[in-house]
Amino acid sequence: MERPQLGVCYYPEHWPQSMWAQDAQRMAQLGLKFVRIGEFAWSRLEPSPGKYNFEWLREAIDTLHRHGLNVVLGTPTATPPKWLVDSMPDMLQVDNQGRARGFGSRRHYCFSHEGYREACGKIVTALAKQFGQQPGIAAWQVDNEYDCHGTTLSYSASAKSAFRNWLARKYQSSDALNRAWGNVFWSMEYNSFDEIELPLLAVTEANPAHRMDFRRFSSDQVASFNKLQCDIVRRYSPGRDIIHNFMGRTLAFDHYKLGADLDVSAWDSYPLGFLDQRSDRPEAFRQKFLRAGDPDWQAFHHDLYRSTSKGRWWVMEQQPGPVNWAQHNPAPAPGMVRLWTWEAFAHGAEVVSYFRWRQVPFAQEQMHAGLLRPDNAEAPGFNEAHAVSAEIAQIGAITQTLADVVIVFDYASAWAWEIQPQGAEFDYFRLIFDCYKALRSLGLSVDITSPHNRDFRGYKLVLVPGLFSLDPELVESLAQSQAMVLLGPRTGSKTANFAIPDGLAPGLAKEVLDLKITHVESLPQSAPLAMAKHPGNLFFWREFVELGERCTAVLSSADGNTVLAKQGKMHYLAGWPDDLAMRSMLERLAVNAGLATFDLPQGLRLRRAGGLVFAFNYDSEPVDLAGLAGNNDFVLGSASLPAAGVAAFRAG
Ligand code: GAL
Repeated sequence: MERPQLGVCYYPEHWPQSMWAQDAQRMAQLGLKFVRIGEFAWSRLEPSPGKYNFEWLREAIDTLHRHGLNVVLGTPTATPPKWLVDSMPDMLQVDNQGRARGFGSRRHYCFSHEGYREACGKIVTALAKQFGQQPGIAAWQVDNEYDCHGTTLSYSASAKSAFRNWLARKYQSSDALNRAWGNVFWSMEYNSFDEIELPLLAVTEANPAHRMDFRRFSSDQVASFNKLQCDIVRRYSPGRDIIHNFMGRTLAFDHYKLGADLDVSAWDSYPLGFLDQRSDRPEAFRQKFLRAGDPDWQAFHHDLYRSTSKGRWWVMEQQPGPVNWAQHNPAPAPGMVRLWTWEAFAHGAEVVSYFRWRQVPFAQEQMHAGLLRPDNAEAPGFNEAHAVSAEIAQIGAITQTLADVVIVFDYASAWAWEIQPQGAEFDYFRLIFDCYKALRSLGLSVDITSPHNRDFRGYKLVLVPGLFSLDPELVESLAQSQAMVLLGPRTGSKTANFAIPDGLAPGLAKEVLDLKITHVESLPQSAPLAMAKHPGNLFFWREFVELGERCTAVLSSADGNTVLAKQGKMHYLAGWPDDLAMRSMLERLAVNAGLATFDLPQGLRLRRAGGLVFAFNYDSEPVDLAGLAGNNDFVLGSASLPAAGVAAFRAG
């Protein structure tokens, strides 16, 4: 394990060449080690078909390398240039109203278009051959933020024919597909795969099984598009890490599947933009954390992406100041850029790279801050990055240990409940995040894992909420583990073909939990259900449980229905608890699993990393850590943790 490093995103093509050497020198002085470049530069790399212009890029890489900087070279496939689009206009992504997306921003391509895939293969091969062995090239970034601007699903002619082929491979015969989807309903039966349309513009909802397969197909298209580039880069640039930068709350494709082809997962962390744009938190919370970000959001994504490529991960883009793309774009509170950076390191990031080096005075992102202002003076984020680079030397390597708690997180379940929410608010991400933030408020460190994990050794508590379809191996490995296990709500309530399982929910989990969900109801937020002898309420969702002989009710609602049932260490949660109910329910399980819990203030969060405990204060008031740290030594900060402060002490 090496000590963590800092980096930055840089666009040499935006600045006169005369500035590059000075930029590189200042980066090195700041303590940066990595510089990502090139990911949107196609029109400069290939100004007209087949006419490459790589000299400027070679010069930029050499300049950075001369100053001791390692380059992450991006493939430019998120921004196909105009001449390419004009040469095959059907490469454009098509939206769910059947309209082609226009040229003039980015990500305007369809993942299924063979001609576009070929064009990507050519430019990536040319770049990888040219720069693959060049000193200074440390890693590659493939494309940029798949699904950014909602670009995974495409309803193009290419997608339609690729979908038909995908279905033919999966089902072999249209009869098998008709049976699997239940197409006898509403006379939807097909006589051949060539009759199958994409699920768009139907009068009312299309068959959920049809939509689910379209989501699986679309996800596979992203993964195979990515793999195509990874294979080329690996061939011509062996030994260099291949990375992609994922986003926050982005569920349109299976990141585990795509991550299997990467060496390192990265994600782009914009805490203030995300709180404004992508959060379900109430207004008062958003105001309180306006300049700090959600105290659990960054950590959640760090933990998620740590699991998508065997533990190696980076923050490729870290917000350094106000962004330009949210409804409101506040400046971070002083200290937060440093805090976010340290939090990523505490969760195992190898590199945190700021977006971007200098604010650009033209085009779409001219209002987005950088480490430098457009006039080349230092912006506030610069000094915070500087502070971190000095502290890294002081702390050295940070080791990661297995957390005590793990949550199973599944992309297909997000698609399933989006397709069939059955109650407007039933959102998979929100359900998982509600569990996660409750665990964190108890001071627990959490891992996240895929539903294909078969090894829960070492965990004391395993949560599997909302997993739409169970497979026998997962049920078996959960039953074999030593951990307390919590399933539900909705876990195992569908077959893989999107049907209600024989014998009802929780499907295969009935092998290990002697209960049956007879029916469910969804509830408006304004109609919560009180619990009996337990704080908080259920809201959004509840299930009615028929208990078998081996199961007992642990908690009930005030109207007498089982909310939490138990058989040995297996538990089932038959509803969606609000924050209060969730927290006390999980506290009870954690304590029964032998874990020590705390009652942390809303803005204080902890992360255990090897022999250290990191503390992060997202609040605007100081916090006293003496009670938590006891007599243990501090290696960073002290027991008196200021607003936006970071501390680390030795675990007792
Ligand atoms: C990211 C993207 C960057 C830049 C940034 C602005 O989503 O990868 O290219 O647009 O947002 O915050």
